[in-house]
Amino acid sequence: MRHPLVMGNWKLNGSVKMTNELIAALRNEVSSINGCEVAIAPPVMYLDIAKRALGGSRIALGAQNVDTNLSGAFTGEISATMLKDVGAQYIIIGHSERRTYHSESDAAIAEKFALLKTAGLIPVLCIGETEAENEAGKTEEVCARQIDAVLKTQGAAAFNGAVIAYEPVWAIGTGKSATPAQAQAVHKFIRNHIAKQDAAVAEQLIIQYGGSVNDKNAAELFAQPDIDGALVGGASLKADAFSAIVKAAAAAKNG
Ligand code: 13P
Repeated sequence: MRHPLVMGNWKLNGSVKMTNELIAALRNEVSSINGCEVAIAPPVMYLDIAKRALGGSRIALGAQNVDTNLSGAFTGEISATMLKDVGAQYIIIGHSERRTYHSESDAAIAEKFALLKTAGLIPVLCIGETEAENEAGKTEEVCARQIDAVLKTQGAAAFNGAVIAYEPVWAIGTGKSATPAQAQAVHKFIRNHIAKQDAAVAEQLIIQYGGSVNDKNAAELFAQPDIDGALVGGASLKADAFSAIVKAAAAAKNG
């Protein structure tokens, strides 16, 4: 039985004050909700502060990126072992903003996936098509290519305990979420694609939806059988909206 995972991607937002205040509010609101894993990924600068603020809570710590190297002369980078050292567990890789603004390739993202697995961290692999690819009917082709970068180098077993976040690029930060039916169709395709290699791995795989998820549309997205929670951007910066999304996931999948 898969547990949903609702994870907040704070992106380039936050401060010491905001990190402490938002976590204090989230701890309060989320502590009594069961049946849904919860994680937050603040900017790497605030991970240690966040870890302290989260102490003893059920909210896991995550990060938004990792380097393809473990140590050495790579100015400005952060390694998987460093993230592990400060207590991060869920690491977002391949976010479309990094693919676009930092020209990250499928191959480099697959390398990050492998390093995270070796370090004992949980990769949250973001995939998804642009608006132009969607209109050209290439959604499945793009998602398959992005997954295959890992499947073909590391095998289906690499997805054991990992997370995929389907985030159609046209839905990110636009207020225009995919409809539940649209998202479900792609999630099912993703699960089937992995099931062709290993049915058991596909069955346990958490596949999150991301792209303009908010407290209003979350419940109907989570009602879909292959949508196992969400990767939330804007709404994760507001304690009440984020908690409502966590509640919706717990309710949809457990009761
Ligand atoms: P929004 O929820 O702001 O659309 O962002 C989604 C996202 O990119 C999460 O990683």
